[in-house]
Amino acid sequence: MTDVAAKPTDSLTVRDNRTGQEYDIAITDNTIAAKDLGQIRVGEDDPGLATYDPGFVNTASCRSAVTFIDGDKGILEYRGYPIEQLAEKSTFLEVAYLLIHGELPTKEQYENWVHEITYHTFVHENVKEFVQGFRYDAHPMGMLMASVGALSTFYPEAVNIADADNRHMQMVRMIAKMPTLGAWSFRHAQGKPFVYPDNDLSYTENFLSMLFKMSESKYVADPRIAKALDVLLILHADHEQNCSTNAVRSVGSSQVDPYSAVAAGVGALFGPLHGGANEAVLRMLKRIGSKENIPAFIEGVKNGDERLMGFGHRVYKNYDPRAKLIKKACDDVFEVTGVNPLLEIAQELEKIALEDEYFVKRRLYPNVDFYSGLIYEALQFPPEMFTVLFAIGRTPGWLAQWNELITDKEQKIARPKQIYTGDRELTFVPAEERWA
Ligand SMILES: CC(C)(COP(=O)(O)OP(=O)(O)OC[C@H]1O[C@@H](n2cnc3c(N)ncnc32)[C@H](O)[C@@H]1OP(=O)(O)O)[C@@H](O)C(=O)NCCC(=O)NCCS
Repeated sequence: MTDVAAKPTDSLTVRDNRTGQEYDIAITDNTIAAKDLGQIRVGEDDPGLATYDPGFVNTASCRSAVTFIDGDKGILEYRGYPIEQLAEKSTFLEVAYLLIHGELPTKEQYENWVHEITYHTFVHENVKEFVQGFRYDAHPMGMLMASVGALSTFYPEAVNIADADNRHMQMVRMIAKMPTLGAWSFRHAQGKPFVYPDNDLSYTENFLSMLFKMSESKYVADPRIAKALDVLLILHADHEQNCSTNAVRSVGSSQVDPYSAVAAGVGALFGPLHGGANEAVLRMLKRIGSKENIPAFIEGVKNGDERLMGFGHRVYKNYDPRAKLIKKACDDVFEVTGVNPLLEIAQELEKIALEDEYFVKRRLYPNVDFYSGLIYEALQFPPEMFTVLFAIGRTPGWLAQWNELITDKEQKIARPKQIYTGDRELTFVPAEERWA
């Protein structure tokens, strides 16, 4: 409790109407520290006031210098660099370096980084055996989640998270091996032989080779496809404190090894509310079937029958900047693969929705998932693989956030409070008496 008259300017004065007492709570970085509310109590045995915020809708869990988003203006920056510039002028591996190290690499640093990643793409032969052990119809995300978690058993030293060199090694390994694990999950689901990494190829070319190579001695990817995939990976590389990143941070806060933390991130991304929306967009477009059916579909959405998938976002109340860039990537991919016939429906749907008062009023714009599924389908990925591509792209972001967490002195093991709603102090009656 403090003297209100002498309160500092950046503070919040709270009056507890239960007691009539007033408290001054400091405002720093436009937030108040939740623990400061703990001093607000009605009596000695009161644990103090807490906040209730399911889904962390209005709670900052960390300080972070990795990614900036302004949802109202539709701005996304990695380490201060606008996503548009990175997508146009950088590469996925350079962006990965930027996210993890906080600044762009020199030529030498970049070459070393690319070399390190390229020469860690192979996995232990036993990994192949356990991927083969999955059922023929196993979902590739389930396989990816299990296999990245299993890597912790191959690198037990990864648990030394206080050692910066050791952390670096594991981050390199994970960025390098995720495409191998993702591609092998895909090949297993297809019943095709696994393709080993080809260290002569770039990151995305190698990934395409591991996915699609058959009997040819060298897989040559169309450069336009490799570039488009690289851009897609850049666009998915980080998105501040989203569900999967929060999962990585939360699990990582127990100081477990990073493979286990990233496996948690893959699990979170697997969910349809997070990584699975592009698949839903594709299903929706197929169901609409032709442009003539759009007005009736839109009416259904406005009546609350269903949602226009790929529209709307918790943070973006403007055009998702990634959606704009993906739309551009569509042109490049379709130049090679031929236009996905669903594109016409998607574009018309977007045009109608952006002019319709229902969507305008609610500030609903296309999000990252609206067009990405069309590209993935044109590249011949089955829908189950869409989220695997997302996971590979997100890996540097997860790791940058994990690394930040580990080196942040303010961080603690994640352990939210609860509001207990259950019974108390019941008397236990043994089974034989209860069932007698
Ligand atoms: C992303 C999403 C979950 C964000 O949800 P949110 O921030 O909790 O927003 P709300 O669900 O509160 O929606 C606000 C209003 O817009 C409407 N709305 C939101 N998204 C909509 C959509 N895609 N289609 C139709 N109406 C939508 C809601 O019905 C609500 O209307 P109301 O105020 O009349 O009740 C939501 O926009 C959605 O479900 N989009 C479709 C799924 C999708 O594309 N997900 C990928 C996200 S990257």
